[in-house]
Amino acid sequence: MSEPKSAALHVGLLTGGGDAPGLNAAVRAFFHAATRRGLRVSASRFGFEGLLGRAGVFSVRVEDVRGILPRGGSILGCSTKSNPFALAVDRAAKLDVAASVKRRLIDLGIDALVLAGGDGTMGIARMLAEAGVSCVGIPKTIDGDLGGTERTCGLDTAVETAAHAVDALHSTAESHNRVMVVEVMGRNAGWIALRAGIAGGADAILIPEIAYDGERVAAKIRERDALGLRFSIIVIGEGAQPVGGTPSEIERARQGRPPRLGGAGERLAQELAEAGITHDVRVTVLGHLQRGGAPAASDRVLATRFGVHAAELCAERRFGRMVALRNGAIESMTFDEACAARGTVDPGGDLVRCARAIGIELGAA
Ligand code: F6P
Repeated sequence: MSEPKSAALHVGLLTGGGDAPGLNAAVRAFFHAATRRGLRVSASRFGFEGLLGRAGVFSVRVEDVRGILPRGGSILGCSTKSNPFALAVDRAAKLDVAASVKRRLIDLGIDALVLAGGDGTMGIARMLAEAGVSCVGIPKTIDGDLGGTERTCGLDTAVETAAHAVDALHSTAESHNRVMVVEVMGRNAGWIALRAGIAGGADAILIPEIAYDGERVAAKIRERDALGLRFSIIVIGEGAQPVGGTPSEIERARQGRPPRLGGAGERLAQELAEAGITHDVRVTVLGHLQRGGAPAASDRVLATRFGVHAAELCAERRFGRMVALRNGAIESMTFDEACAARGTVDPGGDLVRCARAIGIELGAA
């Protein structure tokens, strides 16, 4: 977009896609850092809904961001249904949509947009930036699948929640000699499963990045039986799939939204029965519990650092970039770089090797 008309840059802030713990810390930090540099801050409610005229756009006041650090969710609201490009079938249509968003921003007197979101939101930001909208991105997602950054805000909290659930399931598994299957979120990335599984002492961890053989999981359960340990804990990522299979979907992809995943745990339970496992197998799906609750302190700190850097980029008029954590330091990269980087678990990486080294079954050699 063109240079702002007034000296005070007016920034519109939104939290796109699904919520993640820590978003409020990012909103608060952005507000404080931006206003201290003389920027004006408005916000679009429910992702793009506000900007598209289907919800409000409001001027953020200091009262709005007081006391929000420990709160989960986003005080701005989120939406997974407000992708402005959802119905745009080709590039020309997308450019038309981007032009109308740009006009709407001009009508609102907004000079630049700051979008906190995951891969979907960064894709939207890239398209808008290409059409000349001044954008800055803040990476958030519990899935941790944005490759350009070492961490995304929300992942640590989700891992804590999932690890506590694995802890809690241990005692009941042991009391009943049961096999407990815990299905966790993460879409196509196994970070939550792997980290919560290691933290919670799982016997097998199945992640989307490593197609699994159900027989190997059954063999692990038998191995434990032979040691007199007649209970087992298996953590499975919602996007995990058996060798030759596909992720288990409960709703197909539509209108710019990815498929809804679910059922991986139940499918595994069936495979274990087919492999001759006679224990009671119980499946717990943690679902949206992983997205809720107070953010972990580490997510609040990370989100604060992201929010501050986003404000700095705006103040310096360095647009078209996503803030990121690299080598422990906060920096930024272009949306092209951010969208191109893979954020999934490396099957040959340190965490997978570490899990194998202590005898955790990963479902494949
Ligand atoms: O991308 C974050 C995430 O929580 C995934 O882990 C999960 O598959 C998905 O969102 C759930 O989306 P929804 O809130 O639309 O059910």
